[in-house]
Amino acid sequence: MAKRPSNRARNIWTLDLLNIQPADRVLEVGCGPGFALTAAAARLPRGRILGLDHSAVMLQQAEVRNRAEVKSGRIELRLGNLDTAVAPMEAFDKIYWVNVVQFLDDKDAALARLFDALVPGGILATTYVPRGRGAHRADALVMA
Ligand SMILES: C[S@@+](CC[C@H](N)C(=O)[O-])C[C@H]1O[C@@H](n2cnc3c(N)ncnc32)[C@H](O)[C@@H]1O
Repeated sequence: MAKRPSNRARNIWTLDLLNIQPADRVLEVGCGPGFALTAAAARLPRGRILGLDHSAVMLQQAEVRNRAEVKSGRIELRLGNLDTAVAPMEAFDKIYWVNVVQFLDDKDAALARLFDALVPGGILATTYVPRGRGAHRADALVMA
């Protein structure tokens, strides 16, 4: 995932949509191997980003890829499921998730949880690319 050009491009596209500001507090849900965390942290000279994933293997890859930023505290990694891991007290200016929404059983509940974790005026970006033979834009619109 971290190496495929199309996946890297859609992660960068998602970050561009968020208009990340230098001091933003950002959450990536389902950060996987942490490619987008690296790119987001580069846009956050005074801010911080939390990467959440329920896979220890993915988080380990994200940590290796972002060792310096994790050490400095600019990137925080958290093992956990979206259903339980985002504490209600945390507030984020920007939240994004790329190709994660399709894995959630209760998408409405997950989205409500993420909206609750946004500061007023914050932005949530959901990126989803349908897979499979003949996948089409219409399939993405069904998910939307
Ligand atoms: C297809 S990968 C996408 C990874 C990354 N966002 C990217 O675009 O390269 C989906 C990721 O979401 C994580 N994930 C799926 N459901 C999750 C959940 N309920 N809570 C936390 N992470 C989840 C998986 O472990 C995996 O790393």
